[in-house]
Amino acid sequence: MGPLLQWRILGTGAIGHTFARSLAGSTTGKLIAVGSRTQHSADLFGDEHKIPRRYPSYDALLRDKEVEAVYIATPHPMHVEWAIKAANARKHILCEKPLTMNRAEALAVIDAARQNGIFLMEAFMYRCHPQTRTLVELLRAGIIGDVRLIQATFSFHSDYNLHSRLLNKQMGGGSILDVGCYCTAMARLIAGVAIGKDFVEPIDVTGVAHIGAQSGVDEYALALLKFPCGILAQLASGVQVAQESIVRIYGSEGSIFVPSPWMPSYSGGNTTIFVQTAREWSPQAIVVEVNAGLYAIEADTVAAHLQEKQAPSPAMTWDDTLGNMETLDRWRESVGLIYEGEPTRA
Ligand SMILES: NC(=O)c1ccc[n+]([C@@H]2O[C@H](COP(=O)([O-])OP(=O)(O)OC[C@H]3O[C@@H](n4cnc5c(N)ncnc54)[C@H](OP(=O)(O)O)[C@@H]3O)[C@@H](O)[C@H]2O)c1
Repeated sequence: MGPLLQWRILGTGAIGHTFARSLAGSTTGKLIAVGSRTQHSADLFGDEHKIPRRYPSYDALLRDKEVEAVYIATPHPMHVEWAIKAANARKHILCEKPLTMNRAEALAVIDAARQNGIFLMEAFMYRCHPQTRTLVELLRAGIIGDVRLIQATFSFHSDYNLHSRLLNKQMGGGSILDVGCYCTAMARLIAGVAIGKDFVEPIDVTGVAHIGAQSGVDEYALALLKFPCGILAQLASGVQVAQESIVRIYGSEGSIFVPSPWMPSYSGGNTTIFVQTAREWSPQAIVVEVNAGLYAIEADTVAAHLQEKQAPSPAMTWDDTLGNMETLDRWRESVGLIYEGEPTRA
């Protein structure tokens, strides 16, 4: 094994802590620096995760020449600025989902990555996980015949706090961008694999949403997608309603149920996909054995593909991210959700 990839974290919030804890289980990476908007937060985070270098600003962190890879863990509206600055500082980038607020911003980030010759990946951890690879293999093998219908839900109930990034419009609040993005990415993946591609774009996107009177963001939302070859998808997202966060796929010869599509075996361990075919009385349990944590697998995926600049599908490639952002733009357009600074059509 080569030298460990030197990581730094930009932002000391909830997912920053999760990633820091998981990186300890990575076989390829080591956390060496953290940057925060305040020295106090950087120090607290550094003490907790035993990180030697703590910076009181993101700019100071990016000036550290020894850091090779940056994990961007700020709220979504800040991703575009810091991803472009990190690319210009020639750091490899793993940026939290959604990569940016809309497709136009995502294009700017990808251009900066291309121009600086650095690795860039949108951090959809489930796309890096062996369970998703197994799902793709099952579909490629035609285990349920022709795919007809996809159902994908990611929805939870959070406290009604208008200052939290989930409900605050200035911080990119709302469920479509927070968790609907997982569902669009999954539906595009499944429909694409079903027709022999890595992913495919929907022909039609129609949404409805409950926009909170106080929050001004979509507190829960639904979308209907139509793909080529007659594949349809029903998506549900929410930050104010607990739903069963699952994926179901119905085909001409059976169905697939994924009980834990988004955070499979969080700390490592087995995870299961159920396949029901017309030939069998009961569903077949397909057990996926995993010996690393969800976010460690993601960090190891980055390390394994630095030279190629992108990790291969089902991890998020640049074109996959652009297509997903476009689908999110269309979903938001359909429900009339526009963020500050965006043109009328996102
Ligand atoms: N992949 C996953 O499983 C997953 C899970 C949760 C969230 N996420 C994504 O990760 C990102 C962060 O989510 P989170 O839940 O970790 O958010 P969070 O707990 O609110 O933390 C965000 C951090 O960003 C920094 N920040 C920079 N500018 C800020 C501003 N204007 N206001 C508030 N904080 C600011 C802060 O760190 P400093 O004070 O240190 O600067 C803050 O602690 C989001 O894009 C989200 O979609 C991904």
